[in-house]
Amino acid sequence: MTATLVLIKPDGVRRSLVGEIIRRCEAKGYKVADLKLVEPNREILAKHYAEHEGKPFYEPLMEFMLSGPIVAIRLEGERVIEGFRSLAGATDPTLAAPGTIRGDLSRDWGTKVIQNLVHGSDSEESAARELAIWF
Ligand code: RTP
Ligand code: MG
Repeated sequence: MTATLVLIKPDGVRRSLVGEIIRRCEAKGYKVADLKLVEPNREILAKHYAEHEGKPFYEPLMEFMLSGPIVAIRLEGERVIEGFRSLAGATDPTLAAPGTIRGDLSRDWGTKVIQNLVHGSDSEESAARELAIWF
């Protein structure tokens, strides 16, 4: 069974959008196969975001991801990796299409780093790597 890692980022938990985000995943037909609320530390986030180390938004991103609890989900279904990316929408919530999680539920809040509610693995390799980090 294909699986992806979904993270509901601190803004999603703070804004009480956990139920709405999971509802959209389930309504699409995907299965929540595992789920937990986590207070992540720097070490686990450094592993997760290793590809972004050194980029200008790395430190603000780490601070944002450390700013509160997140929800980690193992989401399963045929082609769920691309399917969830499609549900999530573009990285920038101002430009994300209406109908997507980011397009409908987020916007630019004037913060140092984009706050866009969710993370979804972007390939089979990333999904395997990231699921092993969080579960
Ligand atoms: P994600 O990894 O969180 O699913 O998001 P993504 O693939 O759409 O975006 P990615 O390029 O992997 O960036 C990871 C997260 O870093 C923040 N970011 N901020 N210019 C910026 O301010 C900027 N660029 C990226 C976002 O939170 C993005 O989701
Ligand atoms: Mg990414």
